[in-house]
Amino acid sequence: MQAVKIIVLLATILNSHAQQLNTNSFPDDFLFGVGTSAYQVEGAWNESDKSENIWDQLTHNYPDLVIDGSNGDVACDSYHHIDDDIAILRNLGVDFYRFSISWTRLLPNSYSNVISETGLQYYNNLIDALLAANIIPMVTIYHWDLPTELQKLGGWANPIIADYFADYAQVAFEQFGDRVKYWITLNEPQSFCPGYGSPNQAPVNVAEPGIGEYLCSYTALKAHAKAYHIYDERYRSTQQGVVGITALSNWFEPNTTSPEDIAAAEIAKQFNVGLYMHAIFGRDGDYPEVVKQAVANRSALEGFPFSRLPELTEEEIQYIKGTADFFGVNHYMTYVAAARDPDEIGEPSMEKDRGVSAWFDPSWEGAASSWLKVVPWGFSNLLMTLNNEYGYPMYVTENGYSDYGEIDDSRRTNYYQLYLSAVLDALSNGANIRGYTAWSLMDNFEWLDGFVNRFGLYYVNVSDPRTIKSSGEYFKQVIATRVVTT
Ligand code: NOJ
Repeated sequence: MQAVKIIVLLATILNSHAQQLNTNSFPDDFLFGVGTSAYQVEGAWNESDKSENIWDQLTHNYPDLVIDGSNGDVACDSYHHIDDDIAILRNLGVDFYRFSISWTRLLPNSYSNVISETGLQYYNNLIDALLAANIIPMVTIYHWDLPTELQKLGGWANPIIADYFADYAQVAFEQFGDRVKYWITLNEPQSFCPGYGSPNQAPVNVAEPGIGEYLCSYTALKAHAKAYHIYDERYRSTQQGVVGITALSNWFEPNTTSPEDIAAAEIAKQFNVGLYMHAIFGRDGDYPEVVKQAVANRSALEGFPFSRLPELTEEEIQYIKGTADFFGVNHYMTYVAAARDPDEIGEPSMEKDRGVSAWFDPSWEGAASSWLKVVPWGFSNLLMTLNNEYGYPMYVTENGYSDYGEIDDSRRTNYYQLYLSAVLDALSNGANIRGYTAWSLMDNFEWLDGFVNRFGLYYVNVSDPRTIKSSGEYFKQVIATRVVTT
């Protein structure tokens, strides 16, 4: 009897060990999804009572900033094609769909005194259709389309925007939270904040280089934390969802093993992820020390009486710390990093503050987007580092590859094979990753790259039916089998 028990025990141990070593398949509860955002797919930019946002304004007033002069007026016309979008999501067999709410479609006055009936109807229809198709909605509250009216107040450079955002988030929780259980407050503050430090990005011409981006990062932290507290205090117990934020999460590989280059890669990482996320996820909260030091030093050298990075008070640090249930990883970029004299970097900017050069190794395979290279080991390193540094559950909320819209897109398939394998590597090394989102469900308005650079698993030309690409067939197979085949 004893011997039988021992054999059963041994078999169980060996079996669980074999499962751990089986790096080729995803755990049963791992979720697969695809992502889009409102401005990039919805179209219907002025339908009903929707008011203007900063991307409507940029594309209409500064079309030259967009590679092909295009805009999101119609985009994929998802506003009028809920059924088509649900059909292609169903065909892929995704567990969840990540989409965003358009602030000015829901709140035409930017705040909650008027909730648009048609806006509400559209998102209710979309959410209900997803649930009827057994697809979990994962909702981004802010994906870059700030109401123009709030930009007139200075946009994200004005801390009052945190209150407007919290008010908007509260409406979203109240209206949709009975059915939406995954919330992302802000998408990539790393991408929208530099617009306040550079004249050619949205919201255009409001830049205060070396100042505006830090005011924005400060406001973004407060906005996120306010929304999280509202959820926690008013909705969590009844709605039982989770609230996170997504970070543009790059990997920086030191150029050499010299201590200087290792330190340079670390500082680059802290300016990229830490500046925006450490106050939320870091064990002691606040901005990372290296970032505080670097900006304070350069500010003093430039004669500023204070650091250009707004200080967080002790009260703010405590208020922001721990305000997330998960870390959303948006990953596209790996760089090589090395120390560089900040005085060689001309303009006042975050780059000058960080004093680091970062570049793409010329041997890395590229994509249509100049900043996108195929470096899957950078992704697994990043996932392990985020896991060890912050220790929060992670969802990969974006990852994908751009080309010019080929239907037979073997390079994108190859990319997904490599990057999904990188996720499997990180999982087998113990990283707490709960899901993966391919960017994007379909070709869409790629911001300043217009409709030239395309990320879709489906090809979209608005007057034709959405057409699945070979990478879409591949992703579908991964979801069905939970295995990355090569
Ligand atoms: C990040 C953004 O969240 C998304 O809107 C964009 O299309 C992708 N990166 C690709 O650039």
